[in-house]
Amino acid sequence: MMAKGLLFLIVTTMISPVFCDCPLDKIRSFGKCSFHIQCKTDVRDVALPPHCLGSTNDPVIIDLVLNNAKSDMFDINNRDREILYSVTTFRVSGVFPKTNLSMLEHMPHLRVLFLVNNRMEIIYGSPFSQLRHLEHLDLSHNNLTDIKDLLQFNTYPSRFRILVLAHNAIEKIPNVSFNGLSSLTELDLSFNRISDLSDNPFQNLTRLGILKLNNNRITDLNGALNELHTLKHLFLRGNQIQNFNAQSLDIIKELETFDLSSNQLEDLKEVVFVRHWKHFDTNSVCKILLSDNQIIAIPNVKSKEVFDRYVRSVPGYGNNIFTVTTELDLSNNAISNISYNAFQPLVRLVSLDLSHNKITNFDVNPRDMIYVKYLNLSCNFITNLKFDSFQSMHNLQNLDLSHNDLEIIPGHTFTNNNKLKYLNMTDNQIEKLEHFRIKMFDPEGGVLDLSNNSISQLSIPNGEGLHLNILVLKANMIADPALIYLCYQNKLETLDMSVNIIQELKNNSLNLPVTLSSLDLSNNSIAKIHPGTFKRIEQLRTLRLAFNKLTEIEYGTFQELKHLSYLDLSYNNITNLDSRVMTDLKSLRMLSLKYNGLYTLDYKIWLGHHFDLNVYLEGNNISCDWLAAALNDYNNGFSKMKPIAHMRSSSGYSLEGIPCEQDAHQLSKLTTVMADERLLVVVQKILRAVEHQNDLYKRIFMGHEINHKSVN
Ligand SMILES: *[C@@H]1O[C@H](CO)[C@@H](O)[C@H](O)[C@H]1NC(C)=O
Ligand SMILES: *[C@@H]1O[C@H](CO)[C@@H](O)[C@H](O)[C@H]1NC(C)=O
Ligand SMILES: *[C@@H]1O[C@H](CO)[C@@H](O)[C@H](O)[C@H]1NC(C)=O
Ligand SMILES: *[C@@H]1O[C@H](CO)[C@@H](O)[C@H](O)[C@H]1NC(C)=O
Ligand SMILES: *[C@@H]1O[C@H](CO)[C@@H](O)[C@H](O)[C@H]1NC(C)=O
Ligand SMILES: *[C@@H]1O[C@H](CO)[C@@H](O)[C@H](O)[C@H]1NC(C)=O
Ligand SMILES: *[C@@H]1O[C@H](CO)[C@@H](O)[C@H](O)[C@H]1NC(C)=O
Ligand SMILES: *[C@@H]1O[C@H](CO)[C@@H](O)[C@H](O)[C@H]1NC(C)=O
Ligand SMILES: *[C@@H]1O[C@H](CO)[C@@H](O)[C@H](O)[C@H]1NC(C)=O
Ligand SMILES: *[C@@H]1O[C@H](CO)[C@@H](O)[C@H](O)[C@H]1NC(C)=O
Ligand SMILES: *[C@@H]1O[C@H](CO)[C@@H](O)[C@H](O)[C@H]1NC(C)=O
Ligand SMILES: *[C@@H]1O[C@H](CO)[C@@H](O)[C@H](O)[C@H]1NC(C)=O
Repeated sequence: MMAKGLLFLIVTTMISPVFCDCPLDKIRSFGKCSFHIQCKTDVRDVALPPHCLGSTNDPVIIDLVLNNAKSDMFDINNRDREILYSVTTFRVSGVFPKTNLSMLEHMPHLRVLFLVNNRMEIIYGSPFSQLRHLEHLDLSHNNLTDIKDLLQFNTYPSRFRILVLAHNAIEKIPNVSFNGLSSLTELDLSFNRISDLSDNPFQNLTRLGILKLNNNRITDLNGALNELHTLKHLFLRGNQIQNFNAQSLDIIKELETFDLSSNQLEDLKEVVFVRHWKHFDTNSVCKILLSDNQIIAIPNVKSKEVFDRYVRSVPGYGNNIFTVTTELDLSNNAISNISYNAFQPLVRLVSLDLSHNKITNFDVNPRDMIYVKYLNLSCNFITNLKFDSFQSMHNLQNLDLSHNDLEIIPGHTFTNNNKLKYLNMTDNQIEKLEHFRIKMFDPEGGVLDLSNNSISQLSIPNGEGLHLNILVLKANMIADPALIYLCYQNKLETLDMSVNIIQELKNNSLNLPVTLSSLDLSNNSIAKIHPGTFKRIEQLRTLRLAFNKLTEIEYGTFQELKHLSYLDLSYNNITNLDSRVMTDLKSLRMLSLKYNGLYTLDYKIWLGHHFDLNVYLEGNNISCDWLAAALNDYNNGFSKMKPIAHMRSSSGYSLEGIPCEQDAHQLSKLTTVMADERLLVVVQKILRAVEHQNDLYKRIFMGHEINHKSVN
């Protein structure tokens, strides 16, 4: 049936192949009488299959897209009329600065209509008045100013839910504009020039759940939304509201989302925090967004009504209260004073963002912090942390204290937080941490970022910092890595000590746990690494030593690193490298030697390496002859070392994109030695193949795998 329908569409399309407005390959069927049709400039030469005409049991759904419409009206012939008559969804692109949208006259069954970005400035009359099936109308991204009579209907469209007028130039909304639209649940008026709501234009929108008025020029709500008793989500971001009080918006108590960010609020009235929880469904998230204002203080709550949320949680009041949570964003204000009970009216505060303020002291009632999971205090002037404020935060997962003035991790502060997953203390003034004072992180592992402090010494005693998994000590003042004592951290896997001032690594320099798998020591001043330095951390997989001052690698330097797969030695000054110093690195797969000024690289050891080994080589002085031989050996399977470049060379000599020098005086020695080595490899390979064969025969004779592997 589906195919038959499509066929009929095909036939009519082919009748006049000259005007291929609605090409066949742009017609898709998704049900008996359901089609998606895409046309260009005009809608012509498509028709419905007969079984979809007249009264049919199958719902007729036509989703029509008209691109580059040549006009806002249709040139009608008999055939087109039927298909247009059945269109349920219509999207059109075209340019109609002044229009009466007469094309809509032919589509009385429209449910969804997109008239987006058509440069409409004036729409004459009430072109939607016949569309009594309308559900969703989008007029966004035009230049409309006058909407007074635009939305008048002959028959009330009882399923009309969503109206989008965003990104126009609307300044005034007369009180009659939306009067007939009491079925609307979502109205988007964002990005217009609305400043005045004193006409009460929304009073008849008795089912509205979402209202977007963000990015307009509203200075005062003046009670204009007070009739909207079903409203749940209100967006007022990017307006010019200075004053906000209980009279401005008395339905605020019922709102789930209240976005007043980027306004001009200075004075925070307690009404902003107060909600009547019985209006909320289970699992509602109450979002209060007040970032980018000029708020200077968060006062205590005084009024009786607000006062006791504990009364509200009494059984019988409504159990919803146990699943509703609150997220509060106060970032980018000028808050310096937070009163002790400031957050009391909020029920189940789980997320609190106070970043970019002027807070020096975060001292709040612990009873209001019990449920907090995310706390952002970044970019303030905090010098100390009060145990009192943190003691009840058993649920704290994410704490951002970056860019403050902390000098220590204060004693006891974190004794009760055992779910910390992420603690950021970047950019403070910490110099020494002898007592760590963070008892434990989340059992799944915690991240601690201490970069951009002045740390030269850090020691985590036995029994502290449990479950720490990633530690970042980048950009500090570490000169002697032995003073970073982390041997008890048996969950630590990643340590970043880049951008410090380490000059030398000795065999007792790294007091790190054996669990470590990634170590970053790049951007130090390391000139010497003594043999045995990494002996303890034998499970290491990634080691970064880029941007140091290494000139040579000694035998035994990488002793015990049999699991290391990535070694970064780029941007050092290693001019000669003999692969034999890397004998220990049995699992090496990637080695970066970029920008070392390297002249010779002897890869003998890697002829019989177990894995393919990519060696990054740009920014060196290797000769083209050597490179040719190395590439040849790799391509022929003699060597496992694959010379490679991250950035392909664009000038000078190069082979396979790897730059090289034409002058080759050191080379002849190298190649003669290599010939013997190659022979050895070939012999080894033959031996391995024979072994494999024998093994296979043995298994076949023993009756295993006859039906499986051996057949191939
Ligand atoms: C719409 O405008 C066109 C001319 O632009 C006119 O021919 C047509 O009659 C108008 N339709 C209505 C319903 O006013
Ligand atoms: C809206 O009109 C203004 C001039 O009135 C013009 O600058 C702007 O480009 C127009 N915008 C669109 C989307 O047509
Ligand atoms: C709508 O506004 C007009 C003038 O602005 C006023 O005369 C009329 O009473 C208002 N109607 C309602 C229902 O508010
Ligand atoms: C509000 O809508 C109802 C229909 O739902 C209508 O009867 C009434 O007149 C409208 N109110 C105004 C002020 O237009
Ligand atoms: C903080 O605010 C409270 C009341 O809101 C006031 O009593 C106190 O003096 C303020 N403190 C500072 C340092 O401004
Ligand atoms: C805290 O806020 C800052 C600035 O607003 C932001 O950059 C940072 O990502 C936030 N931290 C977290 C953990 O979300
Ligand atoms: C800590 O915060 C800084 C900026 O405040 C950010 O750059 C860094 O990525 C954060 N650390 C982690 C581990 O997310
Ligand atoms: C660290 O400090 C430097 C210089 O003060 C600054 O440029 C950089 O952005 C800081 N990095 C972070 C992650 O805060
Ligand atoms: C560390 O190196 C010193 C010499 O610098 C040597 O005496 C000592 O035996 C080495 N220790 C280990 C554990 O290899
Ligand atoms: C290391 O230093 C180089 C050169 O000064 C710089 O380009 C690079 O960004 C630095 N890396 C880090 C991680 O700071
Ligand atoms: C690299 O080392 C050589 C001596 O081995 C020295 O002459 C040269 O100045 C060093 N280059 C850099 C950039 O440190
Ligand atoms: C080594 O290579 C660098 C760039 O890769 C080049 O600037 C330099 O002149 C070369 N030195 C010699 C001695 O060839």
